Amino acid sequence: MNEQIENLLYEAYETELGGIQVYTNAVECAKNDDLKEEWEKYLEQTRRHEEILRNVFETLGMDLEKDTPGRRIVRHHGEGLVKAIEMARNEGDEDAAQIVAAECIVLAETKDHQNWELIGEVAKKLGGEEKKALTEAHEEVEDEEDEHLYHTQGWTRELWLDLLGQPAVLPPPEEKKDVKTAIGAARAKQSRKTMVRGGRKGPRPPAEA
Ligand SMILES: [Fe+2]
Repeated sequence: MNEQIENLLYEAYETELGGIQVYTNAVECAKNDDLKEEWEKYLEQTRRHEEILRNVFETLGMDLEKDTPGRRIVRHHGEGLVKAIEMARNEGDEDAAQIVAAECIVLAETKDHQNWELIGEVAKKLGGEEKKALTEAHEEVEDEEDEHLYHTQGWTRELWLDLLGQPAVLPPPEEKKDVKTAIGAARAKQSRKTMVRGGRKGPRPPAEA
């Protein structure tokens, strides 16, 4: 196996490990019931992704415990995200903590999404056992990674708008439209204007004189 592909797989594995920690902490910050359910589902899927990669490592005879520079960076980021969620929870503002958790998930899933996109690309160029292992893993994970990133971006945007007293769509259009592509996410965002039902709280406009 090419060394750079190995490096990518180690980063991908560490990203899933960090993702489990991020979701475990984020679920505790979810106030919205739909969001809590969503993140609990993503936590289970992330656990499965970790397992899928563990199986890939076993199939390819790679040492799961080997540490790499890239892996250390990914671990550092993951620990930082968990710490950020803890800090937000300790501040005691539940609405703010929910948004911090959502933003941390978007950051984690941006890396996760790119890892799997790259794994899908390199798998096309490989042959034999390597191609089979990476292609099968990619096929099982790809759609879920799209959902994790695009839906959470939608949640983050709408939770912020709601907090700002602006019309918000909750759950976000990305979720209602079951978005699984970047172009679908752009379309969902575009369509939100027709879906807004008015802000649920926040400052009211001044009464007319
Ligand atoms: Fe994942």
